[in-house]
Amino acid sequence: MPNAAIQSIAMSVAERVMTNEEFEKIVETSDEWIQTRTGIKERRVAEPGQSSSYFGAIAAADALKRAGVNPEDVDMVICATVTGDHLFPGTACLIQERIGAKNAGAFDVGAACAGFIYAAEVASSMIRNGTIRNAVVVGVDTLTHFVDWSDRSTCVLFGDGGGAAYMEATEEDRGIVATVMLSDGSGAKHIKIEKGGSLYPPSRPQSEGKCSTLYMAGKEVFRFAVRAMADSCHKVLEKAGLTADDVTLFCPHQANLRIITAAAEHLGLPMERVFVNVQKYGNMGAGSIPVALYEAEAEGALKKGDLVMTVGFGAGLVWGANLIRW
Ligand code: ACO
Repeated sequence: MPNAAIQSIAMSVAERVMTNEEFEKIVETSDEWIQTRTGIKERRVAEPGQSSSYFGAIAAADALKRAGVNPEDVDMVICATVTGDHLFPGTACLIQERIGAKNAGAFDVGAACAGFIYAAEVASSMIRNGTIRNAVVVGVDTLTHFVDWSDRSTCVLFGDGGGAAYMEATEEDRGIVATVMLSDGSGAKHIKIEKGGSLYPPSRPQSEGKCSTLYMAGKEVFRFAVRAMADSCHKVLEKAGLTADDVTLFCPHQANLRIITAAAEHLGLPMERVFVNVQKYGNMGAGSIPVALYEAEAEGALKKGDLVMTVGFGAGLVWGANLIRW
């Protein structure tokens, strides 16, 4: 069986920078509160019309360019997102068309902020079992299009953008070493956009009064996130027969610096081996992990042959981790 290596990675985030100070003019908050409670200093906010496929396609095209691969040679486009352009068609199809991957299949994976973990494993499994030779795996979200800008407990947390990895079969000792993927649907009530799906379609009377913006019970999600990060890291390391000492770089979902620090402490990992960019982008949903991987590589914190542990958690509830030989 071949391995499925990440041959290149790229990112695309919204151009407009929105600082904490700007939020002080919109809601009752302060730069001090946001930084102390979340670690976020600024985030990127998409313009109207800049959808998830917009950022996803830019990152996907760049990943292919970096790998020197012709879009027509791509076998599969997988897009992890919960803020797709439409309920259907899938956002992966829109990306497939934009990048000119004429011979590829395309589908979406909806696992919220753990989406890239799930999608990378799906691609890896399909490559390893010979179904496909390669895949472009996108993780992208544009959550600011769905926040309630008058709700200070959520509107300050999110940003827009994502990244894409080009994965292909290789005989080298690289690629996903182990993955865990977990869920607990009893926590579905804690993070949701209630209206717009088949239970509460916009046009039906029973949908009246239902919310079409993002709702999150922050405290519950915080407690879950700390547990989920530790749980998935332990399980994935155990599965691979490795320990935290073997991990070159810990690259977690970037939602809140306090959650990241708690997970690192729990694993006994010094912060020098933890990649953090939440201060620049806030929570970009499924986009957080590929953007962090891209920046870690660009800064020289992640090199070929290193062992990187990614971990994510989010609406579902879902959580999971990939151990990747870079
Ligand atoms: N500015 C000022 N005060 C605020 C703000 C704000 N932006 N937001 C909330 N507060 C207030 C609250 O109203 C509350 O006031 P009260 O005590 O008078 O009621 C007080 O601050 C404390 O609120 P808490 O909710 O207890 O604050 P906490 O320390 O838990 O931080 C936060 C809130 C940042 C949301 C935290 O709970 C968190 O990060 N949760 C996890 C979020 C997450 O990781 N989500 C990922 C999944 S998202 C997805 O999958 C799409």
